[in-house]
Amino acid sequence: MLDTFIDEIASAALATGEPEFVTQRVREALTPWLAQGLPDTYVQPAEGCYARHVIHCDPLERFCIVSIVLRPGQSTPIHNHTTWGVIGVVTGREREVRFRRSDTGGLQELESRFNAPGDTAVVIPPRDVHRIEGACPEGKPTVSIHIYGGNVDRVTRTIFEQKGVEYAGPCATSYHA
Ligand SMILES: [Fe+2]
Repeated sequence: MLDTFIDEIASAALATGEPEFVTQRVREALTPWLAQGLPDTYVQPAEGCYARHVIHCDPLERFCIVSIVLRPGQSTPIHNHTTWGVIGVVTGREREVRFRRSDTGGLQELESRFNAPGDTAVVIPPRDVHRIEGACPEGKPTVSIHIYGGNVDRVTRTIFEQKGVEYAGPCATSYHA
C-alpha cells in the first residue's frame, strides 16, 4: 500500500510545471490517501515536542514525504520552506497560522485556520511562512502528511524567533524508507 502511495505522490511531485500546477497535482494525489491512515510507525508522537517521521525521500532529493505528529498544544516553530509544500491531515485537528514578513523584517500574522482530516493546504514561497499546532478537541495526537519539493533536511529554511517561545523540535525524527 505504502509503495503505491509513494509512487502516486512521486508522479505528481515530479510533474513539470510551475509550483501552483505541481502542488495541485500533489494535492489531488494525496487527498484520497488521507482516509487510509498510516502504518503505526508513522503516527507515533513524542514527549516534549512534535515528532517527524520520514516516509520517503526521493534519492535525487526532488521531493520528500514526511508525517508530522503533534499532541494537543505541541507546535512547530514559525518557519518557512523555501520550496513548495502540500499538507494533508490524516487524524486529529491541526491549527495552521500563516505569517507575512513585513518590510521591517518582522512577522505579521495573516490568518489562522483549522484543518480537519481530509483537508489539505499548500505553501508556495514567498507565502510559505507558517506554524502548525496540534489542536485535536478530543485530546488525541494530530497526524498530517507533508510533501515538500526537496529534501526537508537539506533545504535552507528559516526558523523565526518568537518572543517568549523557545524553538523546540522536532525532538524525534525517524527514517524508515
Ligand atoms: Fe511547514
